[in-house]
Amino acid sequence: MGIKVGIIGATGYAGVELVRLLLNHPQAELAAVGSVSFEGKPISEIYPNLAGIFEAVLTSDEQVIEKSEVIFASLPHGLSEKYAASCAEQGKVFIDLGADFRLWAEEDYKQWYGLEYHDLTLHQNAVYALPELYREQIKGKTILGNPGCYPTSIGLGLYPALKSGLLDTKSIIIDAKSGVTGAGRGLSQTTHYPDCNEAFSPYKIADHRHTPEIEQTLGDIAGERVTVTFVPHLLPVNRGIVSTIYGTLKKDITLDEVFDLYKSTYKEEQFVRICPKGTAANLKNVRLSNYCDISLHLDERTNRLIVVSAIDNMGKGAAGQAIQNMNIVCGLSENTGLNSVPPCF
Ligand SMILES: NC(=O)c1ccc[n+]([C@@H]2O[C@H](COP(=O)([O-])OP(=O)(O)OC[C@H]3O[C@@H](n4cnc5c(N)ncnc54)[C@H](OP(=O)(O)O)[C@@H]3O)[C@@H](O)[C@H]2O)c1
Repeated sequence: MGIKVGIIGATGYAGVELVRLLLNHPQAELAAVGSVSFEGKPISEIYPNLAGIFEAVLTSDEQVIEKSEVIFASLPHGLSEKYAASCAEQGKVFIDLGADFRLWAEEDYKQWYGLEYHDLTLHQNAVYALPELYREQIKGKTILGNPGCYPTSIGLGLYPALKSGLLDTKSIIIDAKSGVTGAGRGLSQTTHYPDCNEAFSPYKIADHRHTPEIEQTLGDIAGERVTVTFVPHLLPVNRGIVSTIYGTLKKDITLDEVFDLYKSTYKEEQFVRICPKGTAANLKNVRLSNYCDISLHLDERTNRLIVVSAIDNMGKGAAGQAIQNMNIVCGLSENTGLNSVPPCF
C-alpha cells in the first residue's frame, strides 16, 4: 500500500500530468481524481491515452480529500484556500499548483490577482516550495505553494549569482518563452492553432502575474529588494520554457569562475544540470522531465552575465516539482518517481 494521493482539477493540463507521473510513482497510490465539469465520467474518456491504464471515475473534490492523504490542487487561482482549510482540518497534506499560496505579502496577491487572503493562518503555515532553495523549510509542512513555471526557471537560474552578490539587483532583464500548455486547457484566441502556430510574440510585457513571485524569490536570495523587467513570449511548441536572463556584473569575474560557482552550488542537486561551456540550454533536452538545464555566458563587452535556464513547464514547472515536494514532505527520496530520461527528440 502506497501513500494515498488525490488530485483536484485532474482534467486540467497540470492535473493530468500529475496523473501521468503519479501512475509511475512506486510509493504513491492514485486514490481519487476530481473534476467539476466531468464528475461521474472516467478520466480516460477525456484523455484516451489513459485507456486500459487508468480509468478511474472523476469524483467531487470533497471525495478526493476524503480518500487521500496527500492532495494536489491544480485549479485556477482563487479557489484553493477552502481546500487547504479542509485538508488542514483533517490533518492532510495540501500541495497547491496555483498561485494562492506562493506570495508572502497579501498586498502583492491583491495587486496582481485582485483577491484577498481570507484565512491568514493558512498562509502563515504555508511554505513556498522551491526545493533547491527552501528544502529545509518544506520538511514538516502540510500546506505547500508549488512555484510557478517561469519563477522556477528564473529562481534556479539566478540563485548562485545573486547569493554571491555578483549582480546589480536593479539591472536584471528576463526574456522568457513558454510553450502553449502554459496557458492551460481552456480555449482562447491566442492559443487557437492558426493564431499561435507559425507565430511568435511577447505577451503581458512587464505586466505578467509571475513578476511579484520572481521578485520575492530573487529578493530573498539577494537579501535586498530586487526589481526585474520580465517579458514572457508564447512559443509555438506544446511544452517547455526557456528564460534568457541578463544582469550587470558588480564584480570582476571570469567565465570559469562563474562555472565553478554554479557547479559547486548545485553539486548535490540531481535536477539542476549546468550545461558544458560553449553550449546553450535547450528545452528539447528537458522535455518530459524534472530537469532544469542552465547555461552560462559572459558578455565582456557590456559587462553582463547571461544565464539561460530551460525547464519543462509541465515537469519541473508544475507536476514534477509538486511530486518532488510530496517526496520531501513524505520523507521519500526526492527523485522517487521522477527519474524518467528525457527523450532524445
Ligand atoms: N500549465 C502550466 O504550465 C502550469 C505550470 C505551473 C502552474 N500552473 C498552475 O496550475 C493551475 C492549473 O493550470 P492548468 O494549466 O492545468 O489549467 P487548466 O488546464 O485550465 O486546468 C484547470 C482545471 O481546473 C478545474 N476547475 C475547477 N474549478 C474551476 C473553475 N471554477 N473554473 C475553471 N476551472 C476549474 C477545471 O477542471 P474541471 O472543469 O474538470 O473541474 C480545469 O481543467 C493554475 O493555477 C496554473 O497557474 C500551470
